[in-house]
Amino acid sequence: MTDVLSCPVTGATEPLPEYPLPRAAQCPLAPAPAAQRLQAEKPLAKVRIWNGTTPWLVTRDADQRALLPDPRVSDDDLDPGFPYVNAHRAEIAQVTPRLVTNTDAPVHTRLRRTVNGPFMVKRIETMRAPIQKIVDDLIDDMLAGPNPADLLTAFALPVPSLVIAELLGVPYKDHDFFQRSSSLVLDSSVAPEDARRVSGELTAYLDNLLTRKTTDPGEDVLSEMAGRVKAGEMTHTEAVHMGVAMLIAGHETTATMISLGTLALLQHPDQLALVRETDDPKLIANAVDEVLRYLTIVQTGVRRVAKDDIEIGDVVIRKGEGIIFDLHTANWDPEVFPEAERLDITRPARIHQAFGYGPHQCLGQNLARLELRVVYSTLYRRVPTLRLAADIADLEFDHTGTTYGVHSLPVAW
Ligand code: HEM
Repeated sequence: MTDVLSCPVTGATEPLPEYPLPRAAQCPLAPAPAAQRLQAEKPLAKVRIWNGTTPWLVTRDADQRALLPDPRVSDDDLDPGFPYVNAHRAEIAQVTPRLVTNTDAPVHTRLRRTVNGPFMVKRIETMRAPIQKIVDDLIDDMLAGPNPADLLTAFALPVPSLVIAELLGVPYKDHDFFQRSSSLVLDSSVAPEDARRVSGELTAYLDNLLTRKTTDPGEDVLSEMAGRVKAGEMTHTEAVHMGVAMLIAGHETTATMISLGTLALLQHPDQLALVRETDDPKLIANAVDEVLRYLTIVQTGVRRVAKDDIEIGDVVIRKGEGIIFDLHTANWDPEVFPEAERLDITRPARIHQAFGYGPHQCLGQNLARLELRVVYSTLYRRVPTLRLAADIADLEFDHTGTTYGVHSLPVAW
């Protein structure tokens, strides 16, 4: 194991950087300064992670685009070289069934084909009216409640939970259970045994619902998966776990893009005014992509392992070595996004990698984009006096979760 970085000219050494790299306290929405330095000086660098292993860290946009679709770069988290995020994730990888999130082609291609349909742009667009209603109702409730309020619990977390319930076909009478359980599963302050119990209840619930949809299908994703199980294209267990994966992958991420996105816009009043005042859906769509780029909330990086030796630039990534793709730093790559530190909703932003890149690129991106477009075009118009009810320096940011967010976002109007 390499413990140090050594200069080939002078032989001078320094310890490997510990990943994740810390953000600057005074600049909480920017990538870690050390990651930006690596991007400029050593865009393919070894780092050390929690278990002492030393995977590669990739920080440049172009290298990520070259490596992420490479078939030698694997998502197989049972490979001993896989750079797990933490001990808990290493443990659950050993007992998690094989899903889209941990397989390579051809298994990944088959599984992805069974779930792609409902997430295509045209199908997702049919969700616009239900999403608008969910957003409007939640704003009504928030405005009728106490002022100031926590935007995260009053609005940001319920939006994706109710939308995913609608998408999966969870009956209305079960929405309360569904929303409570999905919030608990994601709450990092909940004890691990409670999180495991609730996660078991949610899995059992989706298992039952899938069985019911087999005999009594509706127009929803679980019914569609029940049909594919019947047709022998996927197993019942795969379908249940896909349902849970959609819920987990889509809930906190979208909620964070609502809460942290609102914080970012409140910090940039000129950009917020553009969002609030425009009638142009294209500008709203671009604003969503620019905020996605600017915040790139998946902060643990995308993790992979090399299945073969890979030569890239002046380095060779050896078979069995871990690779971490730091999406945030890539999305601030000055080669692609000049003045990346400026939040500018008019810049061409769509090419960002906030949803990843390559075969594992986010399955739910069209849904997330639609939810965020509805939220950004509604919330700031309906609550034009929305403001932060705390000093940004007093906000508590979550530095350890998969997504970078705030524990609460006090707002007033
Ligand atoms: C703003 C919201 C979201 C962000 C920033 C986000 C981000 C990401 C990223 C970076 C990946 C790539 C992971 C990798 O390459 O290893 C990913 C994959 C995935 N996302 Fe999302 N996501 C969001 C919303 C959603 C939603 C709403 C859903 C589902 C309803 C979803 C479901 C998934 C699934 C199932 C995968 C795995 C795809 C695969 O491995 O083939 N995501 N997401």
